[in-house]
Amino acid sequence: MTASTSLSQDELKTLVGRAALDYVVPGEIVGVGTGSTVNKFIDALATVKERIGGAVSSSEASTARLKALGIPVLDANEVASLSVYIDGADEIDGRGYMVKGGGAALTREKIVAALAQCFVCIADESKLVSVLGAFPLPVEVIPMAASQIARRFESLGGQATLRLGDGRPLVTDNGQHILDVRGLAIGDPLAFESEVNQWPGVVTVGVFAHQKAHVCLLGTAQGVRTLKF
Ligand code: 5RP
Repeated sequence: MTASTSLSQDELKTLVGRAALDYVVPGEIVGVGTGSTVNKFIDALATVKERIGGAVSSSEASTARLKALGIPVLDANEVASLSVYIDGADEIDGRGYMVKGGGAALTREKIVAALAQCFVCIADESKLVSVLGAFPLPVEVIPMAASQIARRFESLGGQATLRLGDGRPLVTDNGQHILDVRGLAIGDPLAFESEVNQWPGVVTVGVFAHQKAHVCLLGTAQGVRTLKF
């Protein structure tokens, strides 16, 4: 499909949300991410809900939207594997490595992504970067470790701040907190993810390199561009 140059970011999200239907396998259960772009995908998925086996969701917010539209939601423990997981990103580079967690759902996103054979990232073109790190990196942490982890990021040149919601530390679906880390340039996402993951108190780092995208449907002024990694 060819888009006009006047499409808004919201319209680009709708475009890629609909395009992701091409990756949904009839009769199968689909992995569903979180965020405003995924919401467009969920809306599109509702139009073919009779043709799928249901969804495994990465957040309470997506679960609520799926259920409200009549799409059955299965627990991740009921599923051994998924053919596809569809989710957005805060940043994606030319290798399919991503930063995710702007919606605080990174841990469940990584869990559902790990069940899937194919990760399809849906994003507008503003998300494509050459080096990850301009978007503040979300890290889900055990609250008692937050300051210690923030100091570790400082030693790497980053500045970590506790994410707030309504003036209080934001609490994730898993009952934990989020640090947002500014000032990093993540040149080796695989090594960075492996390193930060083993710091005590880190639940999940928002670098998705081990669970990278296989395909990215990028909404551009010229239409949906498909990147394969
Ligand atoms: C949520 C995420 C989202 O995929 C990411 O924040 C992109 O969201 P949006 O589609 O609203 O731009 O990782 O934790």
